[in-house]
This record gives sequence, structure tokens and C-alpha cells, in this order.
Amino acid sequence: MVRKFTFGRPFPTDAVVKTYPAQEGTLPYFTNTEESLVLTLEKGAPVYGLGEQVRGINKRGWIYTSNCTDNPHHTETTRSLYGAHNFLIIGGASPFGIFIDYPGTLTFDIGYTRSDTLRITPEDWNLDIYLIETEDHLPASIVHTFRQMIGRSYIPPKWAFGYGQSRWGYKDEADFREVAETYAENGFPLDAIYMDIDYMERYKDFTVSRERFPDFPGLVNDLKEQGVHLVPIIDAGVKIEEGYPVYEEGVEKGYFCKEEDGTPFVGAVWPGKAHFPDMLNPEARRWFGLHYKYLLDQGIEGFWNDMNEPAIFYSEKRLNKVFDEVAELKGQNLDLEKNDRFLGLVNTLANHPEDYRSFYHEPGNGMERVRHDKVHNLYGYNMTRAAGEAFEELEPDKRILMFSRASYIGMHRYGGIWQGDNMAWWSHLLMNIKMMPSLNMCGFLYTGADLGGFGGDTTEDLVLRWLQFGIFTPLMRNHSAMGTREQELYRFSNMESAKKILELRYCLLPYLYSEYMKAALHDEMLFRPLAFDYPQDTQAVQVEDQLLLGESLMLAPVYQPNAEGRYVYLPEDMLLITTTGPEDIRLKLMTAGHHYVPVAENELIFFLRKGHLLPLAAPAKNTAAVDDTRLQVIAWPGTEASYTLYSDDGVSKDYENPENLSDIQLSSDGRITYTGALERNLTLWN
Ligand code: GLC
Repeated sequence: MVRKFTFGRPFPTDAVVKTYPAQEGTLPYFTNTEESLVLTLEKGAPVYGLGEQVRGINKRGWIYTSNCTDNPHHTETTRSLYGAHNFLIIGGASPFGIFIDYPGTLTFDIGYTRSDTLRITPEDWNLDIYLIETEDHLPASIVHTFRQMIGRSYIPPKWAFGYGQSRWGYKDEADFREVAETYAENGFPLDAIYMDIDYMERYKDFTVSRERFPDFPGLVNDLKEQGVHLVPIIDAGVKIEEGYPVYEEGVEKGYFCKEEDGTPFVGAVWPGKAHFPDMLNPEARRWFGLHYKYLLDQGIEGFWNDMNEPAIFYSEKRLNKVFDEVAELKGQNLDLEKNDRFLGLVNTLANHPEDYRSFYHEPGNGMERVRHDKVHNLYGYNMTRAAGEAFEELEPDKRILMFSRASYIGMHRYGGIWQGDNMAWWSHLLMNIKMMPSLNMCGFLYTGADLGGFGGDTTEDLVLRWLQFGIFTPLMRNHSAMGTREQELYRFSNMESAKKILELRYCLLPYLYSEYMKAALHDEMLFRPLAFDYPQDTQAVQVEDQLLLGESLMLAPVYQPNAEGRYVYLPEDMLLITTTGPEDIRLKLMTAGHHYVPVAENELIFFLRKGHLLPLAAPAKNTAAVDDTRLQVIAWPGTEASYTLYSDDGVSKDYENPENLSDIQLSSDGRITYTGALERNLTLWN
């Protein structure tokens, strides 16, 4: 059951796609104080949700703020990252879900001020609250009901499940060719190379530097022939430059966000001074979206949207103020207070709340203009929606890869997200693991973190361990910041180990793709905490460093340096799979309970659940070359099991075609039967 409660005059976010009548009366469960929604948490009851946030899968014990922020400091005491995902499941005797559809700044104090109290505080009371209750009170069905409310998750093309290489710093045609060639020469599979800001002409959206890419369509095509897609970045800010058509059109048509006096707001990003398209205005959104055509026409089939919180390095107005104040300090003795003031002036230039309060959107449809900070969390969502709606218009029958940095619930229908500017830290590998199920709860299925770490110098053991988890995440992209140690997989002395692990990704593709598609089409989670599948098991509920992936697998990644194994909790008997690559897969039955499992640096472990199967393809050099008609099936010895495989052409949108589904049945004497439109050769792995 879903109940909607409306307070004040909420701004329409289009997060929820179903219509619910607003309820009369007061909101149950909470005491609705003047300022906050307050609820007493049961002792030990977990709280799940919030999507892209720091800390655990159980969010209890910290204070989080939904305020999309360009913040590379993802630490335990960080309050906001790039997304705003206001969905919670409140555990206890009768768990229920709550979605606060509110695009402004919203704070969730989940046992921070008082350990037994949840306090949710919006900046004003114009919002919709949805209460989600299911008969069984199970977290998994609460998520399912919520996901049905917010609509189907984005489905990328199949090639986007391949491995992608990225680095901020690839700058010209030769760099991209070299990356593709070196991967190929060393025998690594590869499906994509990402283009960061340096492909553009002076950081202008929808331009390609002619000097550095004299024949861009030729390059796109050559790489595509090698099975490699180029995926360019698009930034939110549009450079102010005479003669640049995107800028000139935007100004002429009034499509940029405006200051109070109606002049376009000026903020700086990579190109220096820029205007920000009014993504909340349907006409401006369509205009911006249709510009992606420039790159689609040159053979591009995927994009990543960045800096769309939006990030603002400084606004013209504040910069001038800061210069004046700094000038006052010149020549003075900078004692503690003055030095703090000096540093404060400069350090708080970027992403300043005052700037977000200084410009407006014109949402059209008879609505009044709205100040940006009131709807801040919708900006990245609507930039990605701009692209998604344009792709529907320009390429209605084709899937285009799209993922974004900033997001709000609702954006999950138009694209995935990556988890922002993490660091080459072991703790960020663990954060990546923990964030996956929370994001899935909020509809974001196509997601992954910058593998190896974005900031800081990585190490080869970290890259290998991250790869061993990354081969399971839908978005699998190695990305790093300019100036850091290079981390393409061929840079390291353990290159052979990395290659074998990466090959496993392609062997797992029939399973990973099937599970992704089933999760998307049925509004389910792909990555689940153990608590969701074993709710009665009080120990499983505590486990935060193991995840269920799809119906058959449980993952137990190694995320510590110098580890030669790890402790694992098995909620039931499971089949341990230990592997260094496709040619070395070892199986071992293990009983329920706690175990220490050795995992050498070049090995990874995961588990097959009883009654389930794992189909595996042969290694392939890219997703297109994966042959899912010849599969080996890993199964529990002597146990009946079945599996529904989903496969399609990976590009078109004929998702409901019954021919996409086929069934694998295994009898207890080891016989495989298969029903499906496509002929398949299936053998039992032994
Ligand atoms: C932002 C992005 C990062 C990108 C960089 C340069 O920091 O999050 O992925 O490499 O900008 O475009």
C-alpha cells in the first residue's frame, strides 16, 4: 500500500510515475513537529536506503544531507555526495518505506543527535511524502513497491556491460589509439574508452577539437571496428564565448538560468565563465538534449554527464567580492583569525550556497519562476533527462549509454550514475561495495565506482582487488584523475593476473546481463544485502561486506591490503567458487556458518546458492564476441536447479519479447534440459 501526504505546494519533480491521491489527516508513525518529522527508532532496528551516501548499508548512526554536491572528500563524516535519494526503509517489528519527494536540502538525522531518534528536516514544508507499507513488511517487497512507483530503471546497451578505460588526460587521437592498441596487444578485452574534457575545443560542450582530432568520425569508426566505443563527457556549464553557437542560441532564446534581474547567471567551471542551461524548463531541456545529435551523428553511442550538481567553481559576483576582501588583508599581519578569514574566503569560493540562492529557473507550464536552491537536487536529473528525452526523439529504437554524476530519484529512468570522485583508497573499495545495494533500492541499477580510484596514486594490489569486485558491477570503468599514477591495466607487473580476472567478466556476461535485465524489467534489486534474502537470520542482518548478486550468487570481496583471505558468513550451505581466471575455477561445498576462506592476491571468491545455476560463456575480447549459445553451467552436485536466461540483441528495446527468455533445468542426476527459441549448447561444468 502506498499513501501520499502532501504539504504546502510541492514543486513537481516527476520522480513518481504512478498517481496517488493525497491522503487527508495526519501522517502516521511520525510526530510531525513544526520543523521536522520525528520517529523513535526501535532498539537495534536497521535503517536502509539513501542511495549514494557514505557509511554502511544500515544508515543508522549518522546525519546525512540530500544536497547534490561536487565533493571529492568521501569520508565517514561527509554529509552530502552528488546524489539526493530520499528513500528510506525503517526497520523494526513492522518495517516500512518512506520517500520524501522534495528537491531542496533535506537532512536525515538517523540516530546522530539521539541514538534512538530519526529526524527528517526539510528547509521548507512544500513536499510530498509517500509511505510504503507491504503486507509482509519485508525490505525486498518494500523496495519492489517503491520501484514500481518510480518507474523502470534505465537499460543501457549491452556493450556498456563491457570493460571501459578512462583517464582525465587523454587529449588527442593518438592517445586514444594508443590505449586501444595497447589493450589489444596485451590481449585484454575492452569495450569502451571514455573521453574526458580534453577532447573538446576549449571545454565547450558539443565541440570536438579539430586540431587534436582532425578526423573524429574516422577515429570513432576505426575504434568501433576494433570493438571499442568512444564515450565523451558532457558538462553542465556552457562556455561564454562569442561565436559559439550553443552559447549564442541559449542567450538569444533565454534558455539559461537567470539572476533576479533576468540576466543570465554567470558561474565558472572548466572553460571559465559559463551559463547554465535551465534544465527545468521543458523547451530549454529539449534544446540542450538535441545538441547531443552533433556527436551521435559522428558515430558516438554513449555519454557521461558531469558537473551537473551543478558544480560552480565561483560566480562572477562572489569572486569580485572575495578579491576586494582579500585586497583588504594585503600587507596585514595574518594572525590566526585573519589567516582563517583569508583561507575561508578562497576555500569557500566553490559551490557556495549564496550562489545557489542567486539564480532562477523558469519551469514553464504556467508555473512561477523558482529560485535554484529550492530545486537544486533536480538539476543533474534534468540534464540527464534532457539527453534521455532527446535520445527517444532522435534514436527511438536504439539504446544509448548514459550515466551522470548528479542525480535525484526519477533520473534512474534516463541513465545510470557513477559514484563520483573517489580516491585510490581501500576504504573506497569497501564504500563502493556498500553503496551498490543502497543505490539499487533507489532505482539506480546501472552504476559502478571509478575502479582503481580516481584521486591519489593507486597501487597494483588495490587495482587487482578492485577489479575482482568491479567485474560484477554493471558499470565497470577504470578512471583516474590527471596527475595521478597511470592505472591502465597494462601498466602493472601483475598484468597477467588482471587479464585473467577481466576475462571472467566476459564469461559471466550471460548471467550478469540476464540478472540486470530481470531486475530492471521486474523492478527488483540486482545487488542485495544478506538481510534482504535472509531476514530471519540475525547474523546475516549484520553482514555489510558480502552481497547477493542476482538470484544465484553471493559475493565476498577482499577489500583489505595484504590480505590472503577473509572471513565469510554463509547463511546457508553454499558452493564456494575460487578462481584466478576462466581456466582455473575450483569448487568446494561449504556448510552454513562462519568460515575463514583463503583468497590469494590473484584469486577471487564468490558463492553459488543451492537450487541455482551459473551459466558461463567462454572468454571473449569484447561483449559482441561473447557467445551465449555455448554455455557451461556451474551447479551444485546432485541437486535440482533451474535458471531463466535473458538474452536479446543488446541494442533495440524489444524487452518484452518472450523469445528473450529461455529456461535451463538441471535434474539431480546431472541432466540438462533447455527450452528456448535460440539453439544453445549447454554442458555441465566439471
Ligand atoms: C570531475 C569528474 C571526473 C572528471 C573530471 C574532469 O571531477 O567527476 O570524473 O575526470 O571532472 O572532467
